Amino acid sequence: MGYNAEFRRSIDHPEEFWRDQAGAINWIKAPETIWQATDNGHGDWFPDGILNTSDIALDANVRAGRGEQKALIYDSPVTGAKRSYTYNELTAEVARFAGALAARGITKGDRVVIYMPMIPEAVIAMLGCARLGAVHSVVFGGFAAHELAVRIEDARPKAVITASCGIEVAKVIEYKPLVDKAIEQSTHKPEFCVVYQRPQAQAQLHDGRDFDWTELVAGADPADPVPVNATDPLYILYTSGTTGKPKGVVRDNGGHAVALKYSMKLVYDAVPGDVFWAASDVGWVVGHSYIVYAPLFAGCTTILYEGKPVRTPDAGAFWRVVQDHNVNLLFTAPTAFRAVRKEDPEADQLQLYDTGSLRRIFLAGERLDPPTYDWLREHTQLPVLDHWWQTETGWAICCNPVGIETLATKPGSATVPSPGYNVQVVDPGGSQLPAGEQGQIAVRLPLPPGCLMTVWENDQRFQDSYLNPVPGFYSSGDGGFIDEDGYVFVMGRTDDVINVAGHRLSTGEMEEVVASHPAVAECCVVGAHDDLKGQVPLGLVLIKDGATIDHDELEEELVEMVRENIGAIACFQRALVVDRLPKTRSGKILRRVIRQIADGEAYSVPGTIDDPSILEEINDQLHQ
Ligand code: COA
Ligand code: AMP
Repeated sequence: MGYNAEFRRSIDHPEEFWRDQAGAINWIKAPETIWQATDNGHGDWFPDGILNTSDIALDANVRAGRGEQKALIYDSPVTGAKRSYTYNELTAEVARFAGALAARGITKGDRVVIYMPMIPEAVIAMLGCARLGAVHSVVFGGFAAHELAVRIEDARPKAVITASCGIEVAKVIEYKPLVDKAIEQSTHKPEFCVVYQRPQAQAQLHDGRDFDWTELVAGADPADPVPVNATDPLYILYTSGTTGKPKGVVRDNGGHAVALKYSMKLVYDAVPGDVFWAASDVGWVVGHSYIVYAPLFAGCTTILYEGKPVRTPDAGAFWRVVQDHNVNLLFTAPTAFRAVRKEDPEADQLQLYDTGSLRRIFLAGERLDPPTYDWLREHTQLPVLDHWWQTETGWAICCNPVGIETLATKPGSATVPSPGYNVQVVDPGGSQLPAGEQGQIAVRLPLPPGCLMTVWENDQRFQDSYLNPVPGFYSSGDGGFIDEDGYVFVMGRTDDVINVAGHRLSTGEMEEVVASHPAVAECCVVGAHDDLKGQVPLGLVLIKDGATIDHDELEEELVEMVRENIGAIACFQRALVVDRLPKTRSGKILRRVIRQIADGEAYSVPGTIDDPSILEEINDQLHQ
C-alpha cells in the first residue's frame, strides 16, 4: 500500500488501522476496544489493553532471540568511556534497578523524577520505572535548581534519581547540590533520592534520605514487569508553554508503544538489528522516544552519546561515532549540523571516517533551514529527511513516509502528514485555509495514539491550551501552510515559545525572572534570529523611575538571574534598556514587531500602536 492509501485508511477507518498496528506489539492482554471518545473530542486508545512498556522494550526482544544482540551502546567522548549492553544484560540491569526501587516502596502510579546526564543509568532508571508501572519525569540536566523544583512541586515524586555530575565538554557540573537546592525550594519533599556516583565528582549523601545507586542495586532482587492498563501514564515530560509554569505532558503506555513501533517503520524504515542514533538528550522528547523507547521496541541497537557535535573533540565527532558503531540511521537537530558546518565548512572531517553504514539522516526539533539541508545533502550524498513533531505528540506529525513510500523532498517542508494526523491549516475562526495560505497548523481530532493524554493533574489547562482555541482540533501552536501537493511547511511558533538550539523555551518564563529584578519596571523577551542556534532570547527592559543602575551592570545581573533560575541552556545574553516598550492602545506589547526589528526584517507599523515613533527608537538602539 502506498502513502496515499495508507493515510486515507488511517483517517477514514482509524480503529481498523490502529487495531492492525496494535498487533505488532506484545500485549499481556490485547485490547478489544480500540478507541473510546471522551466528551471533549479527545479520548483513550486501547482502553482495555494490558501491557508493560519495559517488557516490550526488553524482555520481548530476549524472547524473540535477540538476547545477545547489543541493545545499548554508550559512547562518551567527554570521559573516554565506551560501553555496551546486550538485550540480556540491559534486561537484567533494569530488572535489578526496578527491584531496588520496589524494595524502597515504589509501586505502580508513583512518580519518580530523574535528573541525570547522558549515562546508561539514566536509561536504566527510565525503564526501571516503566517496569514497575511507576511514572517517570525526566528533567533535562541543563535546567537550574529552580526549574527542577517547579517540576518536583508539580509531579510530587516519591523519589528523585540523580548522578553526582554531568560533564559539559570539559566542565564538570555537580548535580547533587542542584537537587538538594530544588528539594529545599519545593514544598513537596520526596521520600528518598538515589545517587549514581561518577568518578568525576563525589556527591554528599544525606543520611536516611539519599542512597548510593551501586549499593542499593547490589542487594536487590530483580523485579518482573508489572501489568499496567494501556491508559495508565508511562511518563510526564514538562515542556515550555506560554506562561511561566511548564506543562506536564502525560503519555500513556499503550498508545505510546503502538505509535512508536509504527513510527520506526513509517518514518525511519528501521528493521530489527539496525543501529539507531538519536543525537539528543534523554531530557527531551526526542531522547524519550528515539534514544530510549522506540529503537528498543523495534529490536534495534540504540546509541547513547555523551558529547557534542563539535568540541568533543572536533567537528568530526558525529562521523566518528557513525564509523565506530556502524550507525545506520542518524537523527539530530539542524543546529547540530549548523555547528559542524561552521567549524568544518567543506566537511573535510567526513573524509576521515568510513560512514558507509549510514543510510539516512533525519532532522527535527526546529525548522530545517535550506542551507543546512543543501550542505548535508551535498557532502553526504545521503537522503536528508526533515520531520515535524512536538513533545505533545511524541512522534512525527509530518514526515517523509520512507517506510511505505519515499516521496520527493522539498527543502523547507517536513513533507506530508503521518498516517493518523489529519493536519489542516486554519484561520483563527477554525476555517480551513486554501493551499499556500499561511495560518495556524491544527490537527483534526482525534489525535492518533502516542499523543498526550492530558496535562498532568490539569485537564483544564489541557483543554484551554490545545482543544479550546479551535474547536474540533488540536492546536499545535505552530504556524505555516500546506502547498498544492499537500506538503506541509512549518514556519515557526505563533505563541511565546522560542526554539534555542533545538531546545524549546518560554519567553514568558524568562520575562518572569527579568521582571523580578528590583530595578526593572517592565520587560519583554523575544526570540531573535541566530545563525547557529536558530533563535536566542533578547530582553527589552524598562527601568523603574529613580533607579540608577548602570545598564551594563543590569544586563550582567539579568543574565546571571536567568542562568540561576532557568539554566545556562536558555542562552539569555542580551538585555537592552529602552525608554518605552511598543504597545497597542490596549496595552499589549508588540512582540512580533520587536522580533522583526531585531532580525532586521521589514515591518509594518500596526494601526493599533500607541506611539509609532518608539519603533524607530528601538531600531536605532538595536542596530546602532
Ligand atoms: N547540563 C548542564 N549544562 C548544560 C547542558 C547540560 N546537559 N547542556 C547545555 N548546557 C549549558 C552549556 O554548558 C552552555 O553553558 P555556558 O553558557 O556556560 O557555556 C549552555 O548550557 C548552552 O549550551 P548549548 O545550547 O549546548 O550551547 P553550546 O554553545 O555549548 O553548543 C551546539 C551549541 C549547537 C553545539 C549545541 O547546542 C547542540 O549540540 N545542539 C544540539 C541540540 C539538540 O540535540 N537538541 C535536542 C533536540 S533534537
Ligand atoms: P519540542 O516540543 O521541544 O519538541 O518542540 C516542538 C517545536 O519545535 C514545534 O512546535 C516546532 O515549533 C519546532 N519544530 C520541531 N520540529 C520541527 C520541524 N521539523 N520544522 C519546524 N519546526 C519544528
